Amino acid sequence: MGSGSGVMGGGYGRHSAAQHVGIGTALGMLDRAVAALPLPEGGRALRVADLGCASGGNALEPMARVVAAARERAPGIPVAVTHTDIRGNDFNALVETLAAPDAYPAGPGVFAYAEARSFFSLLFPPGELHLAWSSIAVHWLSRFPLPIPDHVYRSGATGSVREALRERSAADWRSFLRHRAVELVPGGRLVVVGGAATDDGASGAEGLFGMVVEELRARIDDGQLSVDGFSAMTVPTWNRTSGEFLDPLRRGPASDWFGLEEEAFAVLPDPVHDRYVRDGDLDAYAREVAASFMAAFGPSLFTGAGAGGGAEDPLVRSFRAGLTERIRTHPGDARTNWRVQLLRAARTDAPPPR
Ligand SMILES: C[S@@+](CC[C@H](N)C(=O)[O-])C[C@H]1O[C@@H](n2cnc3c(N)ncnc32)[C@H](O)[C@@H]1O
Repeated sequence: MGSGSGVMGGGYGRHSAAQHVGIGTALGMLDRAVAALPLPEGGRALRVADLGCASGGNALEPMARVVAAARERAPGIPVAVTHTDIRGNDFNALVETLAAPDAYPAGPGVFAYAEARSFFSLLFPPGELHLAWSSIAVHWLSRFPLPIPDHVYRSGATGSVREALRERSAADWRSFLRHRAVELVPGGRLVVVGGAATDDGASGAEGLFGMVVEELRARIDDGQLSVDGFSAMTVPTWNRTSGEFLDPLRRGPASDWFGLEEEAFAVLPDPVHDRYVRDGDLDAYAREVAASFMAAFGPSLFTGAGAGGGAEDPLVRSFRAGLTERIRTHPGDARTNWRVQLLRAARTDAPPPR
């Protein structure tokens, strides 16, 4: 199968309320990471990475906190943040986000950069990074080993397909940790908010993805989507269980490079569904859930079917309209309580992996 693609669709910044909730849960962990960091001296910059940045909107608050927390300890310390994502990301949108007058880089001595390269590769020279932050990104796989028969999401994968996905995910996580172990200085910190799953494999989005698959089958029935096109559609993610996230940090090679300092598993509220319960506006709810789904998963899903995810593509338009209608008729089924794994780990002074 082709490369995994985590590229977010247009409007991700406006339709990522759930991701924002997950990040809010992790801000305390980020503060504690900065409080414990070995800060560079002699006017040298604190070097920070935001891994899997998308359009950057959800990084503004965490990075502003990093600057503030570092400067509490070392007034005026320069801070350099590199926002990274894969090549297909909309880096123009990132630049616009970072250019806002109230965005964290606006202050003196704060520098923001962008790097278009996968976090499954080396992104920084060895031993130069002080803090690596990643939110809601590491569940995207580097590539997708096999199509999922008759489904597009991990919840529909069984048997050998499920096993292949699990193995890909484990290898990717090891690779992510190994590269960060090379990049971070001894005492540097890694803070991750990872899309997660309970031990039964549930990420919280099973109801919504069930509707997605029903809607795609309806598109096959009306001739807009071929069976082959459907077979090529996947969302190349694997939400890891706590064990899958933490075991490599507790035993195995990564436990030499990192000391796990803190971890928490959370089931997030669904802010869009909660608003619907308060205001009863079913149309607005259905539109927003469909928009969030398309922003997060549309490009990877429809690229497989050759539709590219463009909003004007007839298949994309009718899928989105049909999904919106399904959500309107079954609002409770679309409720999505994402699971996230939070973790904070300190780079040991063990020699970097080769
Ligand atoms: C759901 S968005 C999260 C964006 C942002 N961090 C947030 O918290 O809202 C996931 C991002 O991870 C990126 N991504 C997926 N795979 C990646 C990889 N291998 N390397 C770097 N970024 C990746 C996607 O392109 C996407 O922009």
